[in-house]
Amino acid sequence: MSLDLHDVTVTLGRGDSRTTALRAVTARFEPGALTALVGPSGSGKSTLLAVAGALLRPDRGQVLLNGTDLAALSDRERARARRERVGYMFQSGNLLTGLTAEQQLQAAASLAGRPPRSLRARARELLTEVGLEHRLGHRPDQLSGGERQRVALARALLLQPELLLVDEPTAAVDRTRAEALTTLIADTTRRHGCVTVVATHDPVVTHTADSVTDMQQHTAAHLSAVP
Ligand SMILES: Nc1ncnc2c1ncn2[C@@H]1O[C@H](COP(=O)(O)OP(=O)(O)OP(=O)(O)O)[C@@H](O)[C@H]1O
Ligand SMILES: [Mg+2]
Repeated sequence: MSLDLHDVTVTLGRGDSRTTALRAVTARFEPGALTALVGPSGSGKSTLLAVAGALLRPDRGQVLLNGTDLAALSDRERARARRERVGYMFQSGNLLTGLTAEQQLQAAASLAGRPPRSLRARARELLTEVGLEHRLGHRPDQLSGGERQRVALARALLLQPELLLVDEPTAAVDRTRAEALTTLIADTTRRHGCVTVVATHDPVVTHTADSVTDMQQHTAAHLSAVP
């Protein structure tokens, strides 16, 4: 299992706001390892996650998830790959208002066309793994920020994704919580064997990560310097 981006270019926006967000990026991400994706604001970290997670089709290049080129799939096939093979965890948690922690995972199962019942035990196991066995019945407004992020992590892992994509998980939490969350993501990655990419500005994450990929090393400027 692996994620390989080859010569990926993405332009976003139209007219005056048209921007090359990724320019000829080539990078490899290994399974069972947490890779921290670093680089200045605007260097394309979130865009790389969107392309890797089949949310966005690149203008050019290949995005190989375990050998399948996500860039070459139809919109429908891409949507399917996204639901079945990718787990996302956004900073805000992106939980659905009004649903309990356990229901958040059930909703994710339903969206992917899996009967929630068949995944019930698994959902509880994951919520226990992230330390929330005593919060199964709590809605987002009854959870702390860190607890919401942990629900989001459990939800991202429910369908055993090959790829776990995380955008700035520690941007809004204190150092102790940042360390705990990063360790949890790293341990979970090793246990599940998924490819995990975490976009971050936080040294806590880069120190814990198994490897660090710098957006600036993967630009066309760098590539053109290679004979
Ligand atoms: N919809 C859009 N239209 C035009 N340009 C965009 C659009 N979305 C993002 N961009 C531009 O693409 C570039 C890459 O953005 P991206 O969000 O991937 O950066 P980032 O590395 O995640 O930054 P940050 O660290 O601030 O989150 C930026 O220069 C941004 O201004
Ligand atoms: Mg970003």
